[in-house]
Formats: sequence, structure tokens, C-alpha cells
Amino acid sequence: MEIRKYLPDTLFAGKVVFVTGGGSGVNLGIARNFAALGANVGICGRSQDRLDAARAELRKLGAQVVGSVADVRDDRALAAAFEKTRTELGPIHTLVCGAAGNFLCPAERMTPNGFRAVVEIDLIGAFNASRAAFEHLRETRGNVIFISAPQAFVPFPGQAHAGAAKAGVDNLMRNLALEWGPYGIRSNGIAPGAVENTEGVRRLVGDETAGRFRRAIPLGRFGTTDEMGHAAVFLASPLARYITGALLIVDGGQSLLGFGGLVA
Ligand code: COA
Repeated sequence: MEIRKYLPDTLFAGKVVFVTGGGSGVNLGIARNFAALGANVGICGRSQDRLDAARAELRKLGAQVVGSVADVRDDRALAAAFEKTRTELGPIHTLVCGAAGNFLCPAERMTPNGFRAVVEIDLIGAFNASRAAFEHLRETRGNVIFISAPQAFVPFPGQAHAGAAKAGVDNLMRNLALEWGPYGIRSNGIAPGAVENTEGVRRLVGDETAGRFRRAIPLGRFGTTDEMGHAAVFLASPLARYITGALLIVDGGQSLLGFGGLVA
């Protein structure tokens, strides 16, 4: 793992990091980078198979891993996942609210239920997770990292639901920074742009537009899941101990352009 070239592999020794939706994509990339630096890891998601595969990958990096089937829309399932993690690994030091759902759909064709599904997973799911982890975070004087998206502040065709949900996530992130700062809990966000080999890019950037999209990014390429992990590791580490309420945009400059004309 590249990150071990730059940071000690004991940076998070004895710490527990919980990643919702940690079975795949950006969230697994984040879990992997914490595992590479000594953290033990809790993950949850909807598919047992995916959790099993992720668990095997994270264990190879030396982490103890607890996987729990839990949909972030189900606050009781989340609370049970966190308690299982506490029993097996200890209280959570860093919570990553990563679970998300998305699809491309013009607003005029989206059903209320489609809009609701994404808001429930992304926004309400992020509240459910942070609320259920509060006692852990108070005990550890830990931190929360919310996974946002540039759609929260740059309109993107076919993304009314995700943009609204992620704008809510950013606001929640800042509110918790304000309310939970006095408990020693930091709250920050990461807005990943297009990330190679993820479900998000498969769903949002068709093969035809991928080349155009890539060329329009100031840094000339999509990001990697490990690069999202690097940002999360920084925010969770003592290097960021005076940072709270911040949104780190990790998109190669993509959102500076807006999305005009990139997506049909
Ligand atoms: N276009 C338009 N509407 C869609 C859609 C699409 N591609 N996919 C789902 N919907 C609508 C459904 O029609 C339904 O509305 P309806 O009942 O009015 O018909 C509503 O969304 C809920 O769909 P359902 O499949 O029952 O929801 P779910 O809770 O099982 O799944 C989703 C949630 C829709 C977000 C699904 O895409 C998902 O599970 N995604 C997880 C993975 C993912 O999105 N990763 C990328 C993250 S960036």
C-alpha cells in the first residue's frame, strides 16, 4: 500500500474505524488505507457476500475486521452493528458515513419514491450513523467523516436527488462540527469527484462521455479509491486535529468547471 511510504503503519494502532457501505468502491478504498495504517475496521452494507470479500481483503493488511449486514436506513440495525463492533474491537474512533445510492434520472421523470430512496440512504442514513455512534465518539474524542459529492454545490443533470441529499449531508456535517466540538468530536467531509472502477462512475458517466469527462478535468484523469482513502486518513489523523466543519474536495479540479455540456 502506497500510504505506508508516507505515514507510519502504526498511525491508527489501537483505533477502530467504522465505514458504512465499506464493502466496495470509495468506501472500501478508505477502509483499506486505515487498515494499512494499523486500524481495526468495522464495515456494514446490505450484501453479506460483498462484506465477506472486503473483510478478507482488509484482514490481509493486518486489520481485525467486523462486518455487519445493516442498511443505513435502519437505525436499529446500525446500532446493533456498532455494538457488535464495540464488543469485538472497542469503541469507534472514526466513523465514515459513506453508504450512498444513486442513479441518473431527469427530475421530470423521477418518481417521489426514487427521490426519497436516495435522500433516505445518503442523508438520513448519514444522520442515523452519526447519531448511533455519538456515545462511541464522545468516549474516544473521535471524529466523523461524511462522504459528500460535488453535485452538492454544482448542479449536475440527472442528479437532483443526489445533489439535494449531499447538500443536506454537508449541512449536517457542519452542524455536528458546531454541536459536537465541545465534546472533542470533529466532523468533516470529503467530496470525491469521478473515481475509477466504482459503481458511481459506472452509473453516472457512460462509456461515450468518459473520455470527454476525463479530458475536461484539470488534472486530466479520474481519481482512485486509494486517493479518497488518503484524504480520509488525513482528516482522521492528528495532522487535522484543529480542522472541523471542513469539506475537502478531492476531484482533480473537476467541479471548478461546472458540469455544463459534459453529460447529456
Ligand atoms: N431511474 C429512475 N428511478 C429509479 C432508478 C433509475 N435508474 N432506480 C431506482 N429508481 C426508483 C425506483 O423506480 C423506485 O421508485 P418507484 O417505487 O416509484 O418506482 C425507487 O427508486 C426505489 O427503488 P428501489 O429499487 O426499490 O430502491 P432500493 O432501496 O432497493 O435501492 C437505489 C436504492 C435506488 C438507490 C439503488 O440504485 C441502490 O440500491 N443503489 C446502491 C448502489 C449505488 O447506487 N451505488 C452508487 C453510489 S454513488
